[in-house]
Amino acid sequence: MEYNDKVVVITGAGSGMGRSMVSEFARRGARVAAVGRTLEKVEESIRLAGNTERALALRADVSVEADVVGVIDAVVAHWGRIDVLINNAGVLDTYEPAHTVSLQSWQEVIAINLTGPFLMSKYAIPHMLKKGKGSIVNIASLSSFSAAGGGSAYTASKHGVLGLTRQLCFEYGAKGIRVNAICPGATATPMALHGGTSEALPDMDAGVMKTPAQRWCKPEEVARLAAFLAGDDADFVHGSAYVIDGGWLTAAREAF
Ligand SMILES: NC(=O)c1ccc[n+]([C@@H]2O[C@H](COP(=O)([O-])OP(=O)(O)OC[C@H]3O[C@@H](n4cnc5c(N)ncnc54)[C@H](O)[C@@H]3O)[C@@H](O)[C@H]2O)c1
Repeated sequence: MEYNDKVVVITGAGSGMGRSMVSEFARRGARVAAVGRTLEKVEESIRLAGNTERALALRADVSVEADVVGVIDAVVAHWGRIDVLINNAGVLDTYEPAHTVSLQSWQEVIAINLTGPFLMSKYAIPHMLKKGKGSIVNIASLSSFSAAGGGSAYTASKHGVLGLTRQLCFEYGAKGIRVNAICPGATATPMALHGGTSEALPDMDAGVMKTPAQRWCKPEEVARLAAFLAGDDADFVHGSAYVIDGGWLTAAREAF
Protein backbone atom coordinates (compact mmCIF):
# COMPACT_ATOMS: atom_id res chain seq x y z
CA MET A 1 0.00 0.00 0.00
CA GLU A 2 2.73 2.43 -1.04
CA TYR A 3 0.18 5.18 -1.75
CA ASN A 4 -1.58 4.83 1.57
CA ASP A 5 -3.68 7.97 1.97
CA LYS A 6 -1.83 9.87 -0.74
CA VAL A 7 -4.13 11.98 -2.88
CA VAL A 8 -3.80 11.30 -6.60
CA VAL A 9 -5.57 13.39 -9.24
CA ILE A 10 -6.03 11.70 -12.62
CA THR A 11 -7.43 13.50 -15.66
CA GLY A 12 -9.11 11.71 -18.55
CA ALA A 13 -10.12 9.09 -16.00
CA GLY A 14 -13.25 7.90 -17.77
CA SER A 15 -11.65 5.54 -20.28
CA GLY A 16 -8.48 3.96 -21.60
CA MET A 17 -5.27 4.55 -19.65
CA GLY A 18 -6.98 6.91 -17.20
CA ARG A 19 -9.51 4.23 -16.23
CA SER A 20 -6.67 1.73 -15.69
CA MET A 21 -4.83 4.30 -13.58
CA VAL A 22 -7.84 4.77 -11.30
CA SER A 23 -7.73 1.03 -10.58
CA GLU A 24 -3.95 0.85 -10.24
CA PHE A 25 -3.61 3.74 -7.79
CA ALA A 26 -6.64 2.54 -5.80
CA ARG A 27 -5.07 -0.94 -5.56
CA ARG A 28 -1.97 0.70 -4.11
CA GLY A 29 -3.97 2.48 -1.43
CA ALA A 30 -4.37 5.96 -2.89
CA ARG A 31 -7.28 8.31 -2.50
CA VAL A 32 -8.14 9.00 -6.13
CA ALA A 33 -9.75 12.06 -7.68
CA ALA A 34 -10.96 10.85 -11.06
CA VAL A 35 -11.50 13.77 -13.44
CA GLY A 36 -13.22 13.67 -16.80
CA ARG A 37 -15.58 15.47 -19.12
CA THR A 38 -18.40 13.00 -18.49
CA LEU A 39 -19.21 12.34 -14.86
CA GLU A 40 -20.90 9.00 -15.51
CA LYS A 41 -17.74 7.65 -17.16
CA VAL A 42 -15.45 8.57 -14.27
CA GLU A 43 -17.99 7.20 -11.80
CA GLU A 44 -17.88 3.95 -13.73
CA SER A 45 -14.05 3.90 -13.51
CA ILE A 46 -14.30 4.31 -9.74
CA ARG A 47 -16.92 1.57 -9.51
CA LEU A 48 -14.72 -0.78 -11.56
CA ALA A 49 -11.80 0.01 -9.25
CA GLY A 50 -13.94 -0.98 -6.26
CA ASN A 51 -12.90 2.26 -4.60
CA THR A 52 -16.14 4.14 -4.10
CA GLU A 53 -15.42 5.04 -0.45
CA ARG A 54 -12.04 6.60 -1.08
CA ALA A 55 -12.52 8.25 -4.47
CA LEU A 56 -13.98 11.43 -5.87
CA ALA A 57 -15.58 11.73 -9.30
CA LEU A 58 -15.19 15.21 -10.72
CA ARG A 59 -16.35 16.71 -13.99
CA ALA A 60 -14.02 19.08 -15.79
CA ASP A 61 -12.79 20.06 -19.19
CA VAL A 62 -9.04 20.44 -18.60
CA SER A 63 -8.81 23.18 -21.23
CA VAL A 64 -11.23 25.43 -19.30
CA GLU A 65 -9.51 27.37 -16.54
CA ALA A 66 -12.62 27.70 -14.36
CA ASP A 67 -13.18 23.92 -14.52
CA VAL A 68 -9.56 23.26 -13.51
CA VAL A 69 -9.76 25.68 -10.59
CA GLY A 70 -13.02 24.00 -9.53
CA VAL A 71 -11.43 20.54 -9.58
CA ILE A 72 -8.33 21.53 -7.61
CA ASP A 73 -10.47 23.42 -5.07
CA ALA A 74 -12.80 20.44 -4.69
CA VAL A 75 -9.94 18.00 -4.09
CA VAL A 76 -8.26 20.26 -1.54
CA ALA A 77 -11.59 20.97 0.20
CA HIS A 78 -12.23 17.22 0.45
CA TRP A 79 -8.79 15.87 1.37
CA GLY A 80 -6.70 18.96 2.18
CA ARG A 81 -3.81 18.05 -0.10
CA ILE A 82 -2.62 16.92 -3.52
CA ASP A 83 0.33 14.53 -3.66
CA VAL A 84 0.25 13.37 -7.26
CA LEU A 85 -1.14 14.79 -10.50
CA ILE A 86 -1.42 12.61 -13.59
CA ASN A 87 -2.07 14.71 -16.70
CA ASN A 88 -3.55 12.00 -18.88
CA ALA A 89 -6.51 13.60 -20.71
CA GLY A 90 -5.92 13.98 -24.40
CA VAL A 91 -7.45 13.84 -27.86
CA LEU A 92 -6.19 12.71 -31.21
CA ASP A 93 -6.48 14.99 -34.21
CA THR A 94 -7.71 14.15 -37.68
CA TYR A 95 -4.36 13.24 -39.29
CA GLU A 96 -5.10 15.76 -42.04
CA PRO A 97 -2.17 17.48 -43.74
CA ALA A 98 -1.46 20.85 -42.14
CA HIS A 99 -2.73 22.99 -45.03
CA THR A 100 -6.24 21.56 -44.62
CA VAL A 101 -6.43 21.77 -40.82
CA SER A 102 -8.78 24.46 -39.57
CA LEU A 103 -7.50 26.91 -36.97
CA GLN A 104 -10.35 25.84 -34.71
CA SER A 105 -9.37 22.19 -34.83
CA TRP A 106 -5.68 23.07 -34.21
CA GLN A 107 -6.63 25.21 -31.23
CA GLU A 108 -8.90 22.54 -29.73
CA VAL A 109 -6.16 19.90 -29.77
CA ILE A 110 -3.52 22.26 -28.36
CA ALA A 111 -5.98 23.47 -25.70
CA ILE A 112 -6.72 19.97 -24.42
CA ASN A 113 -3.36 18.24 -24.90
CA LEU A 114 -0.99 21.06 -23.93
CA THR A 115 -2.86 23.89 -22.20
CA GLY A 116 -4.75 21.30 -20.10
CA PRO A 117 -1.60 19.87 -18.45
CA PHE A 118 -0.29 23.43 -17.99
CA LEU A 119 -3.49 24.56 -16.25
CA MET A 120 -3.78 21.47 -14.06
CA SER A 121 -0.12 21.85 -13.04
CA LYS A 122 -0.43 25.59 -12.48
CA TYR A 123 -3.22 25.12 -9.95
CA ALA A 124 -1.96 21.88 -8.33
CA ILE A 125 1.64 23.00 -7.80
CA PRO A 126 0.91 25.59 -5.07
CA HIS A 127 -0.57 22.80 -2.92
CA MET A 128 2.52 20.65 -3.50
CA LEU A 129 4.80 23.59 -2.68
CA LYS A 130 3.01 24.02 0.66
CA LYS A 131 4.08 20.48 1.59
CA GLY A 132 7.49 20.69 -0.08
CA LYS A 133 6.70 17.51 -1.97
CA GLY A 134 4.73 16.39 -4.99
CA SER A 135 4.87 14.46 -8.21
CA ILE A 136 3.47 15.15 -11.67
CA VAL A 137 3.33 12.62 -14.48
CA ASN A 138 2.39 13.84 -17.94
CA ILE A 139 1.16 11.34 -20.50
CA ALA A 140 3.05 12.36 -23.61
CA SER A 141 3.57 10.02 -26.59
CA LEU A 142 5.98 8.68 -29.17
CA SER A 143 4.64 11.76 -30.95
CA SER A 144 6.79 13.75 -28.49
CA PHE A 145 9.80 12.58 -30.52
CA SER A 146 8.65 11.85 -34.02
CA ALA A 147 6.13 12.71 -36.72
CA ALA A 148 3.28 10.62 -38.12
CA GLY A 149 1.68 9.43 -34.87
CA GLY A 150 -1.00 12.03 -35.52
CA GLY A 151 -1.38 15.20 -37.52
CA SER A 152 0.43 18.49 -36.95
CA ALA A 153 -1.61 19.54 -33.90
CA TYR A 154 -1.25 16.21 -32.11
CA THR A 155 2.49 15.96 -32.80
CA ALA A 156 3.12 19.58 -31.82
CA SER A 157 1.03 19.23 -28.67
CA LYS A 158 2.89 16.11 -27.54
CA HIS A 159 6.29 17.68 -28.28
CA GLY A 160 5.00 20.56 -26.16
CA VAL A 161 4.03 18.26 -23.29
CA LEU A 162 7.61 17.04 -23.15
CA GLY A 163 8.88 20.62 -23.13
CA LEU A 164 6.45 21.49 -20.35
CA THR A 165 7.65 18.45 -18.39
CA ARG A 166 11.26 19.53 -18.65
CA GLN A 167 10.55 23.16 -17.78
CA LEU A 168 8.47 22.22 -14.72
CA CYS A 169 11.23 19.82 -13.64
CA PHE A 170 13.73 22.68 -13.91
CA GLU A 171 11.51 25.11 -12.00
CA TYR A 172 10.30 22.86 -9.19
CA GLY A 173 12.72 19.93 -8.76
CA ALA A 174 14.70 21.67 -6.02
CA LYS A 175 11.42 22.46 -4.26
CA GLY A 176 10.53 18.78 -3.88
CA ILE A 177 8.28 18.37 -6.91
CA ARG A 178 9.27 15.73 -9.43
CA VAL A 179 7.90 16.03 -12.96
CA ASN A 180 8.18 13.23 -15.50
CA ALA A 181 6.58 12.15 -18.75
CA ILE A 182 5.46 8.79 -20.06
CA CYS A 183 5.65 8.29 -23.82
CA PRO A 184 3.48 5.35 -24.84
CA GLY A 185 3.43 3.72 -28.23
CA ALA A 186 0.28 2.22 -29.69
CA THR A 187 -1.92 1.35 -26.75
CA ALA A 188 -5.20 -0.53 -26.94
CA THR A 189 -7.60 2.19 -25.81
CA PRO A 190 -10.65 3.76 -27.46
CA MET A 191 -8.41 6.53 -28.84
CA ALA A 192 -6.12 4.29 -30.83
CA LEU A 193 -8.56 1.51 -31.62
CA HIS A 194 -11.45 3.67 -32.76
CA GLY A 195 -9.53 6.74 -33.78
CA GLY A 196 -11.10 9.23 -31.39
CA THR A 197 -12.58 11.92 -33.56
CA SER A 198 -10.67 10.82 -36.63
CA GLU A 199 -12.06 8.97 -39.58
CA ALA A 200 -8.62 8.84 -41.15
CA LEU A 201 -6.80 6.81 -38.52
CA PRO A 202 -4.36 4.58 -40.36
CA ASP A 203 -4.43 0.89 -39.63
CA MET A 204 -1.93 0.78 -36.79
CA ASP A 205 -1.90 -3.00 -36.54
CA ALA A 206 0.64 -3.27 -39.34
CA GLY A 207 3.03 -0.93 -37.53
CA VAL A 208 2.46 -2.64 -34.20
CA MET A 209 3.35 -6.02 -35.65
CA LYS A 210 6.70 -4.66 -36.86
CA THR A 211 7.82 -3.67 -33.37
CA PRO A 212 10.10 -6.00 -31.38
CA ALA A 213 7.22 -6.73 -28.98
CA GLN A 214 4.80 -7.37 -31.87
CA ARG A 215 1.77 -6.41 -29.86
CA TRP A 216 -0.22 -3.43 -28.59
CA CYS A 217 0.56 -1.91 -25.22
CA LYS A 218 -2.11 -2.57 -22.62
CA PRO A 219 -3.47 0.46 -20.76
CA GLU A 220 -2.74 -1.23 -17.44
CA GLU A 221 0.95 -1.39 -18.39
CA VAL A 222 1.00 2.39 -18.70
CA ALA A 223 -0.88 2.63 -15.41
CA ARG A 224 1.76 0.54 -13.62
CA LEU A 225 4.53 2.73 -15.04
CA ALA A 226 2.65 5.85 -13.91
CA ALA A 227 2.33 4.43 -10.41
CA PHE A 228 6.07 3.71 -10.32
CA LEU A 229 7.10 7.13 -11.66
CA ALA A 230 4.73 9.05 -9.41
CA GLY A 231 5.83 7.21 -6.28
CA ASP A 232 8.73 7.24 -3.85
CA ASP A 233 10.55 4.35 -5.58
CA ALA A 234 11.28 6.85 -8.35
CA ASP A 235 12.53 9.52 -5.95
CA PHE A 236 15.65 10.26 -8.03
CA VAL A 237 13.80 10.30 -11.35
CA HIS A 238 13.29 13.91 -12.46
CA GLY A 239 12.43 15.25 -15.92
CA SER A 240 12.51 11.88 -17.63
CA ALA A 241 10.62 10.85 -20.74
CA TYR A 242 9.85 7.20 -20.14
CA VAL A 243 9.16 5.37 -23.39
CA ILE A 244 6.82 2.37 -23.23
CA ASP A 245 6.35 1.22 -26.79
CA GLY A 246 7.46 -2.39 -27.24
CA GLY A 247 10.61 -1.09 -28.92
CA TRP A 248 8.84 0.84 -31.68
CA LEU A 249 10.97 3.99 -31.47
CA THR A 250 14.25 2.13 -31.14
CA ALA A 251 13.67 -0.40 -33.85
CA ALA A 252 11.26 1.32 -36.21
CA ARG A 253 11.60 0.00 -39.73
CA GLU A 254 9.10 2.57 -40.87
CA ALA A 255 7.10 5.38 -39.33
CA PHE A 256 3.62 4.88 -37.94
N1 LIG B 1 -3.72 5.10 -27.12
C1 LIG B 1 -2.53 5.37 -27.64
O1 LIG B 1 -2.05 4.66 -28.53
C2 LIG B 1 -1.73 6.51 -27.08
C3 LIG B 1 -0.36 6.57 -27.41
C4 LIG B 1 0.41 7.61 -26.88
C5 LIG B 1 -0.17 8.54 -26.04
N2 LIG B 1 -1.50 8.49 -25.74
C6 LIG B 1 -2.03 9.47 -24.82
O2 LIG B 1 -2.55 8.80 -23.69
C7 LIG B 1 -3.52 9.64 -23.05
C8 LIG B 1 -4.75 8.80 -22.73
O3 LIG B 1 -5.38 8.43 -23.93
P1 LIG B 1 -6.07 7.00 -24.16
O4 LIG B 1 -5.29 6.30 -25.17
O5 LIG B 1 -6.36 6.36 -22.86
O6 LIG B 1 -7.41 7.45 -24.91
P2 LIG B 1 -8.91 7.65 -24.41
O7 LIG B 1 -9.60 8.37 -25.51
O8 LIG B 1 -9.47 6.35 -23.95
O9 LIG B 1 -8.74 8.56 -23.10
C9 LIG B 1 -8.59 9.95 -23.15
C10 LIG B 1 -9.52 10.52 -22.10
O10 LIG B 1 -9.33 11.94 -22.02
C11 LIG B 1 -10.62 12.51 -21.88
N3 LIG B 1 -10.60 13.90 -22.34
C12 LIG B 1 -10.49 14.34 -23.61
N4 LIG B 1 -10.56 15.67 -23.63
C13 LIG B 1 -10.72 16.08 -22.35
C14 LIG B 1 -10.88 17.34 -21.74
N5 LIG B 1 -10.90 18.45 -22.46
N6 LIG B 1 -11.00 17.40 -20.40
C15 LIG B 1 -11.02 16.27 -19.66
N7 LIG B 1 -10.89 15.04 -20.19
C16 LIG B 1 -10.75 14.96 -21.51
C17 LIG B 1 -11.53 11.65 -22.74
O11 LIG B 1 -12.89 11.83 -22.41
C18 LIG B 1 -11.00 10.27 -22.42
O12 LIG B 1 -11.65 9.73 -21.29
C19 LIG B 1 -3.78 10.79 -24.02
O13 LIG B 1 -3.09 11.93 -23.57
C20 LIG B 1 -3.19 10.29 -25.32
O14 LIG B 1 -2.80 11.34 -26.17
C21 LIG B 1 -2.29 7.49 -26.25
